[in-house]
Amino acid sequence: MSYTRAVIPDDFELPVDAFDIPLCYQGDLSGVVIPEGLVRDRVRRLAKDIHASIGNKPISLLCVLKGSYKFFTALVDELSNARSACPAPMTVDFIRVKSYEDQSSTGQIQIMGLSNLDELKGKSVLVVDDISDTGRTLAKLLSTLKDAGVEKTWTALLLSKRVKRVVDVPEDFVAFEIPDKFIVGYGLDYNQHFRDLGHICVMSPSGIEKYKSH
Ligand code: HPA
Ligand code: MG
Repeated sequence: MSYTRAVIPDDFELPVDAFDIPLCYQGDLSGVVIPEGLVRDRVRRLAKDIHASIGNKPISLLCVLKGSYKFFTALVDELSNARSACPAPMTVDFIRVKSYEDQSSTGQIQIMGLSNLDELKGKSVLVVDDISDTGRTLAKLLSTLKDAGVEKTWTALLLSKRVKRVVDVPEDFVAFEIPDKFIVGYGLDYNQHFRDLGHICVMSPSGIEKYKSH
């Protein structure tokens, strides 16, 4: 089963002023890279492709918090529609992973939450994450799941950044391939800010300064 990623070119940015941006974020953003409506359209097709590829088997969807909370709910909804004639159930689980401070990875990947990894033992798990850049976080998570006895994993990513991977990790289903820029919105944060922003945006220099951690 082949499918097509939506590739966002390096220079593609829409003017922030052409969109409805919450007042609290005005001045903090310099461009809209992916409007929220486009994410919704793309997730609908991705869910169909995932269903066509995985088929009618029981699956567990694992939401990698916090960044993928919006993508996860959108994907679960679309996947439920795609699987409406499917006799096998779908379950949801949540795990929390943290590695970023300011605009870079700390290199230390903490996996928290999901106290009972045993619940996933022997299951087929679709790991739903917001973004892959170095591949390190996802690789660590996949090995943790394997150690916990998960039978089969696939990965569904909202975004795959065009940067060189430090670790090779399977990216089975990718909604968008994006340029090497630090982006926020649609669940993605800068020091915990901007997760509630609907559109995926690039920050302005003043926004980066305003929400710096120290
Ligand atoms: N934005 C927010 N969080 C991230 C990013 C990004 O570009 N890359 C990895 N985590
Ligand atoms: Mg983050």
